[in-house]
This record gives sequence, structure tokens and C-alpha cells, in this order.
Amino acid sequence: MKSPITVSITGGAGQVAYSLLFRLANGEVFGADQPVSLIIKEVPQFVSKLEGVKMELEDCAFPTLRDVTITDSDEDAFRGANWALLVGAAPRGPGMERKDLLTMNGASFRDQGHAISKTAADDIRVVVVGNPCNTNCLIAMRHAPDVPRDRFSALTRLDQNRAMAQLAQKAGAQVEDVTNVAIWGNHSSTQYPDFENARINGKPAPDVIGDRSWLENTFIETVQKRGAAIIAARGTSSAASAANAVLDHVRSAVNKTKGDNWFSAAISSDGNPYGVPDGLIYGFPCRSDGKGDITIVEGVILSDYAKGKLDITTQELLGERTDVSELL
Ligand code: LMR
Repeated sequence: MKSPITVSITGGAGQVAYSLLFRLANGEVFGADQPVSLIIKEVPQFVSKLEGVKMELEDCAFPTLRDVTITDSDEDAFRGANWALLVGAAPRGPGMERKDLLTMNGASFRDQGHAISKTAADDIRVVVVGNPCNTNCLIAMRHAPDVPRDRFSALTRLDQNRAMAQLAQKAGAQVEDVTNVAIWGNHSSTQYPDFENARINGKPAPDVIGDRSWLENTFIETVQKRGAAIIAARGTSSAASAANAVLDHVRSAVNKTKGDNWFSAAISSDGNPYGVPDGLIYGFPCRSDGKGDITIVEGVILSDYAKGKLDITTQELLGERTDVSELL
């Protein structure tokens, strides 16, 4: 067995974490020969619930689960962490946009950034899930000056998975036949799910689907508004699919990306190669070297139509950055 890796999860008593923790512990992400130590954080008023989660984790007797620590303190939450999955945040309710949560959630990401900077392992990698995840990630990153900014990412994988499912259903194909799905920009209703560069069985998705109007309207809107549709139907936001996307995100980061495929993640822009303003946490087509390092795929062709869509989501992210300027 290898030496254990330490994974910190915030929002530990919430529904996303409940779907996430057991699958982090069972070896399906980091491998059957990779022990995992979990540090689970929750705010003081709910931390006692974690005693029950810890008992259940122990009762699974996963050979890959080394130990479980529960805490309500940021400093203890990230001590020695190799991965920090920042799930905890107030969720949105019906009729809200994710950015309506900025003032509620932003300060906790500042504090978590500080704690990560002070206490995490040198190779820490941070995935922000709590909404609005792009801008919360930006806040955490700015407050962790000792951590290289390419270690921070936010979750657009749920949007990618949603887009893949929609394209597969429309084409009468299997989900695994759909590749190269990029979500550009914000995890919000301005995101651009890039159907022009998506492929189905290696062919351009628009050629296979043959219905540009469906792609430009129904498809984009379904993916952009899927989170709200789930809240309307369930009365509460996505949980199992969000947790599944976090696991997919981490799995994509720790495995070398195959062939010329890519996956979606929001990472810090350096202004190139698509002209996205420097420092924004922005959804891009990404590849991994298999060691956790995620980089932007260069050379993806953007039509004028796509560039127009990118402008919209860029403007929204710039607006969010202005809105939280006091926290940066
Ligand atoms: C989602 O996309 O389902 C989550 O980000 C929750 C939400 O607020 O939509």
C-alpha cells in the first residue's frame, strides 16, 4: 500500500457530501491501492451530525479508508491536506441565481483560503463546489498567496455531464460516444456548453444531430438551467449528480487525459489563449498530465457565434469579481 493521501471536505453534513464521502473512501477515485485519510468539516451548529457519518464510514470497512477526522475549524480542516473539496456553502433556493449567494458565501471562502495557505500540504489541490463556485474559487485563491494558482479549480463538470447526456439522448447515442464537451465560462445560466466542438463517435456533434436550432436553443438552455430545474422539481439542489461530478473532476485530474479528448473544469485564466481576462476562474476545455495538473487545451476553434457566447459569460464573471472586490 502507498502512503495515505489526505482529502478535506467541507459541508460534511450536507447532501452532496453524503453522496461524496463513501465514494472517496472506497478507492474508486484514487485507486484500490491508495489509502485515503478523510478530514470532514462542518459548521459548529451541524458538526455533531458528522459523528453519525463517521460511524457509517467505519461500518463500511473500506480497505482504502485509513482514518476519519471531523472538525468545525478551518485550520484543522486542511491540515496536511493534499486535496480540499470545498463543498460547504448556503445553497440557492427556487428563483435565485447562484450569484445571489455571493455575499452569503464569499467570506467563508476567504477564510478557507487563508487556512489552506497556512496548513495544507505543499501539493494541495483545491476544488470549489459551493456556489457561485467560480468566484468563490477566485476569493479562496486570492487568500492563499503561497499556493500556486494553478492548484485551484471550480466545478463545471456537472454541466459537462449534463451536456453529454443531452447530446447522447438527442443523437440516439451512448453517453460514452460523446467526447470533447467544453463548458466555457461561469457555472451559471450564462455558461456556454460548446456543441460546435463536441464530438459524437468522433464526428462533429452538429453534423450528427443535424438540428442547429435545437442545439442553439433547447440544448443550451437545458444545460444552463438544469440546476434550477432540479431545484424546482426536488425542492432542493442537486446532490448525487453534483457529488458524482466532483469525483469525475478529481478522477480526470489524477489520470492522464487520453487521446485528443478533453474535459471541463474552471481554472485560472492567464489571458491566453482565448483572451479571457487574467485571473478569472473560467470554464475551459482542459487536459491533465495524470499527476493532478490541469491545463487549458489550446487551439480549440471558436466561431463568431461561440465568441459572442463567451463574451456574455465573461462579462458576468467580471461583474461578480467587482461585486466581491472587498473580499479580494
Ligand atoms: C447545480 O448546478 O445543480 C448546482 O450548482 C446547484 C445549483 O444551485 O444549481
